[in-house]
Amino acid sequence: MRTYHNYIAGAWTPSVSGRTFENRSPANHDEVIGLFQDSTVADVDAAIDAASRAYATWRLVPAPKRAELLLAAAARLVQQKEVFARDMTREMGKVLEETRGDVQEAIDMTQFMAGEGRRQYGQTVPSELRDKFAMSIRQPLGVCAMITPWNFPMAIPSWKIAPALVCGNTVVFKPATLTPLSAVNFVKVLEEVGVPPGVVNLVTGGPDIGTRMTTHDEVKVVSFTGSTAVGRLVNQNAASEFKRVHLEMGGKNVIIIMDDAQLELAVEGCLWGGFGTSGQRCTAASRVIVHEKVHDAFLEEFAARAKGLRVGNGLDASTQMGPSVSEAQLQTVMKYVEIGKSEGARLVTGGHRLDTGAHARGWFHEPTIFADVSPTMRIARDEIFGPLVSVLRCSSLDEAIAIGNDVAYGLSASIYTRDINKAFQAMRDMYTGIFYVNAPTIGAEVHLPFGGTKATGNGHREAGTAALDVFSEWKSIYVDFSGRLQRAQIDT
Ligand code: UN1
Repeated sequence: MRTYHNYIAGAWTPSVSGRTFENRSPANHDEVIGLFQDSTVADVDAAIDAASRAYATWRLVPAPKRAELLLAAAARLVQQKEVFARDMTREMGKVLEETRGDVQEAIDMTQFMAGEGRRQYGQTVPSELRDKFAMSIRQPLGVCAMITPWNFPMAIPSWKIAPALVCGNTVVFKPATLTPLSAVNFVKVLEEVGVPPGVVNLVTGGPDIGTRMTTHDEVKVVSFTGSTAVGRLVNQNAASEFKRVHLEMGGKNVIIIMDDAQLELAVEGCLWGGFGTSGQRCTAASRVIVHEKVHDAFLEEFAARAKGLRVGNGLDASTQMGPSVSEAQLQTVMKYVEIGKSEGARLVTGGHRLDTGAHARGWFHEPTIFADVSPTMRIARDEIFGPLVSVLRCSSLDEAIAIGNDVAYGLSASIYTRDINKAFQAMRDMYTGIFYVNAPTIGAEVHLPFGGTKATGNGHREAGTAALDVFSEWKSIYVDFSGRLQRAQIDT
């Protein structure tokens, strides 16, 4: 059994706790993937100290040079893509095609941010005074704490680490305890390409170390992706020291299908949006609102196709949907099946755990669809994070938009229609951070901002150049070369 270590100050180090935790495959819980450090506050303190010391020199490395390391890391990720994808499927269950996509997203982000090494544009503006120069530049903030989820175990860390590094910050990274191997793989790549000791530090373990990361004086930025409940705690912890906090939290994303939609395309979109990653994306399409004229035709086809999805171990090329990531996650799905039934929704397909034969040792659940769901039901409002889709009915676009917006979250939404006027109205009126036309709610690309409104986020965005706003702050600089005192707003 292989034991993996923390990475602190450039060395792979065991936790001072002397304890480890197991990482098991959700498709076969007899399979232990490795032992990882069950770290303590002392380990985090050592990592923060290393990051703080490294910051003194890293911030002075020219950004294009920092970017060269990112470019080299991207090339290494390309070489290792298949190995990392397999490791990821083993540790969190999504099918190989999707874990390849996850590693690809890390490659894309790392390449994109390498490009920012030669941009990070500021402004130069004319001064109102003679012989005076005025400009703004981005400056790094210092040590950044990153707390990442298990559903995109390499992509999401890359969304945070790559922009933080190119801006000149240093990093302490705590991955989800369910996916530490993908984190080790990513950090090893950064080590191999020569990111200096202390610039990126990895500490594995539970909530205690996360709390320390969000309260420690030396941490200047906290970037968190996970549940809204934990995000609220992160925000509260970090508030008293005015840390910059970037939060990316829950979703209850919606696909609207109008009566003029291409139904076959909409069905494909709902299958991918609802059951891709076993519904375990923040962007998953867990609600579908269908115009009453096409409701029955849509539902029949959607249910038949969902029923036919092959559920199994994601390493098997014929599998279309993997397991839930953990027993707790599976229990949540099962709980919401019961809630849906007790609320009076109609179970159209699925609704059961799969636990016999090839499924006996994993956290598998049938793709599940409820129809006749009303907007007030919990299955229409709560984030479930599993293969459960609620289908609602509407009689107009206005009604669909009103229902669509009537949830706590605002990450992603989409519309299927062939009417350009309807598409533009929904694009304008759905209050989300991401919107799609004739495509499902998942599939964001790395060079546009990613994030959401309301309880999904706190106003920041990751990905694209928007990520630079999380990991840098503005400095406005005035250079007076007149040789005399010139008073702004007073002297002319
Ligand atoms: C997430 O849902 O947690 O747009 C991230 C998508 C992916 C990223 C999802 N590119 O679905």
